[in-house]
Amino acid sequence: MMNNRPIGVFDSGLGGLTVLKELVKILPDEDYVYLGDNLRMPYGAKTDEEIERFTVNSYKFLKTKGIKAMVIACNTATAMGLEAVREIADIPVIGVIEPGAKSSISKGKSEVGIIATDATIRSKVYENLIKEQLPESKIYGVGAPDLVLAVEAGNAENEIGKGIVKRYMDEFPNNLEVVVLACTHFPAAMELFEDYLNTNEKDVIIVDPAAETAKALNEILDKSGSKKGGNTEGNKTFYVTTRPDDFKNIGNMILNNEPKIEKVEVVEI
Ligand code: DGL
Repeated sequence: MMNNRPIGVFDSGLGGLTVLKELVKILPDEDYVYLGDNLRMPYGAKTDEEIERFTVNSYKFLKTKGIKAMVIACNTATAMGLEAVREIADIPVIGVIEPGAKSSISKGKSEVGIIATDATIRSKVYENLIKEQLPESKIYGVGAPDLVLAVEAGNAENEIGKGIVKRYMDEFPNNLEVVVLACTHFPAAMELFEDYLNTNEKDVIIVDPAAETAKALNEILDKSGSKKGGNTEGNKTFYVTTRPDDFKNIGNMILNNEPKIEKVEVVEI
């Protein structure tokens, strides 16, 4: 059995593109419909109820595009909205937190840093999942709202971003062994994180939940026999709730044009 309907990918803005990149690597011939709710971002500063509502609305919008599965490519939306979406969804819906926690647990380290939005830190979802498997571990959470804004403003690879990464990373204790980039905006600044660790001679493993998330979706599609047939590169359609040109320009910078964002449409959700 084959299923040629697209996969929905959702984030509050540009962050989900770091997940889309990994999805396209492992499932290149699938079609994707991406929604960035950049009008309401940053989600990290919103209440639990608001984030849940925005996430449910995004599911409803993506459903109108005929999606066969949805990836909530936003940790904050996963923490506050995944359950509510699953309650109403008639398709598989996955988030990024379980895969991210799994990836962190697989390192077998016990001094674990979570760098995320304030809402994700407040939810303690990572902490709970990691402690279930590694009860002795110590989890340190750092809320990093300015880094979300820096990425959205196109500062993920420059001196402005560098200073912000340093400010937040300095908050972790010196014995840190793993840091989970638990906000999908942050892998856009991967080089700044690597630089910081090198400069400070810190031996810390960086975990990006995106690759594990792509693997999880691949498994689901495999099991249900609902992959797309054919061997051609799939279509990608991009929707945002405001400022399509910024999304396109900064998005292509983050993606290094792989995949390339050609056209962005504004929608009301
Ligand atoms: N990219 C989102 C995440 O993974 C959040 C950014 C925001 O605050 O909107 O948590």
